[in-house]
Amino acid sequence: MKNRRKTYLYIFLIAALYIFAVQINRMERDNETSEAAVNRSQDMESEEAESFFEDRKRVALTFDDGPGEDTEGLLDGLKERNAKATFFVVGEKVEQYPDTVQRMKDEGHLIGNHTYTHVQMNTLSCEAAIAEVKKTSELIESIVGEGTGYLRPPYGECTKQMKKELDMFIVLWDVDPLDWSIQNEDAVVEKVLRDVKDGDIILLHDIFDTSVRAAIRIVDALQKEGYEFVTVEELMFP
Ligand code: NI
Repeated sequence: MKNRRKTYLYIFLIAALYIFAVQINRMERDNETSEAAVNRSQDMESEEAESFFEDRKRVALTFDDGPGEDTEGLLDGLKERNAKATFFVVGEKVEQYPDTVQRMKDEGHLIGNHTYTHVQMNTLSCEAAIAEVKKTSELIESIVGEGTGYLRPPYGECTKQMKKELDMFIVLWDVDPLDWSIQNEDAVVEKVLRDVKDGDIILLHDIFDTSVRAAIRIVDALQKEGYEFVTVEELMFP
């Protein structure tokens, strides 16, 4: 009698242990599944974030030496594509094309300074070089109501002292297809598309019809790759 009761007790204990073990196992499995689900959703979130940033590749097209007779056509093309650009204008040309300069401003482009006579600044005295820049800024201001804080010295050259006294942002470039020299639409497009990467400043000249046509093709090609065309200011201060 005593032995039988002991046996029942063992059986009961073993059964209880078994049920307990099964229960624990099931709880662990549930836990793992929900952890995996959390991990998966985190992975998805970071992938989405990545593709979001990939889609926001940005470049700045910059046009020097204008405005010229092809600049209006360029502005039409940029407007159709909602692409913004930066124009480093020469004072003498600003006097010839004031309406084009006004249109640049009206359509959200950035106007920068490229001196009055397209002079290589470091060949002048500091005073004379600064006068070239100031005259151009005043001209821009007389047309659009404000000057500019952005300077691209012709040939990229100016002295430290000029930089210090002018206190403007000096804007150089990353991609230079030498469009002024080759004046070949296909070659300019090819060079820029080969060299460009996110965050680059592209140098072109809107006084050549080949460069203007190349610019529009560059916008079309890079917009398809997810690039946004912004001004130099937007690139520097996003
Ligand atoms: Ni120039």
